Amino acid sequence: MPDQSDMWIARTASDLRARRRSFSSVAFVPTMGALHAGHLALIAAGRKLADYVIVSIFVNPTQFAPGEDFDRYPRPVTEDLEKCGQAGVSGVYAPDVDQMYPPDVPACELNVPELASDLEGAFRPHFFPGVCRVVAKLLNMVQADVAVFGQKDYQQWRVVEAMAADLAIPTRIVAMPTVREADGLAMSSRNVYLSPDDRIRALALRKAMLEAKLMIEDAGETDPAAVEQAMRRTLEAHQVAPDYAVIRHPRRLTPLDSIAPELTGGVVALVAGRVGMVRLIDNMVVGGPSHD
Ligand code: PAJ
Repeated sequence: MPDQSDMWIARTASDLRARRRSFSSVAFVPTMGALHAGHLALIAAGRKLADYVIVSIFVNPTQFAPGEDFDRYPRPVTEDLEKCGQAGVSGVYAPDVDQMYPPDVPACELNVPELASDLEGAFRPHFFPGVCRVVAKLLNMVQADVAVFGQKDYQQWRVVEAMAADLAIPTRIVAMPTVREADGLAMSSRNVYLSPDDRIRALALRKAMLEAKLMIEDAGETDPAAVEQAMRRTLEAHQVAPDYAVIRHPRRLTPLDSIAPELTGGVVALVAGRVGMVRLIDNMVVGGPSHD
């Protein structure tokens, strides 16, 4: 197993491919950098799943709409590389935009509309086509045995999983539980945008989901509309403007007529809301095998 000083950084796909060839089994963790404990948990999981971990750091322009935070997205490159080294990462792929999207190559369109049109896709139509395109490219470049995603971005995980299955991408897609701050806020690279007041308000997302959990698991509520209404009310009571607060099928992400106790995977509570200028998302699997 390599030690920290062996960690390489590849800037081009051909360099990445050449270096990857000397690795036996590889776990891949795609990121946009600004690494926090959530990312590091994915790296730690990767180390258990394979002999070598490759991390990509690339703020992907195609998943941002004009006017979103692409330009101001945090890019603490030196700290990120240091964290990777300390976490036992074997190699980092950090391409620039032209390397990832060569200007003379006509763009491919990729999406999983059945899973991606609603929820995040409804509020950020650029998002999933951009994510699918960059993740498909990265998976093709890295050729990992397993790729590790965060349950924090629940819909993204399900979309990527479906894309990999449909395109027969040989990399196994796995997801790891959401890492949270001590008070329950899901870690996110965007939390740095929160003002102190908004940081407190942001806890309403977690509160709303815990309420859904209580209603379903303890009180036996089976009507999704009743749970959704309660989640919304909690968000609004904390001045969080909800984009959505819904109960969905855990894999298909479809609305449910009723929360059937026999639904073996449970249901997923998904929330998104605007806290001041910042848009946050979170989720929790309820009534099934808990990942959270
Ligand atoms: P990014 O937001 O950097 O997240 C990289 C990975 O870390 C994703 O799989 C995400 O779900 C996971 N992650 C983020 N916060 C987490 C937390 N608190 N706990 C556990 N995992 C967490 O997601 C992206 O980048 C991009 O869309 C990407 C997949 C890299 C494509 O550009």
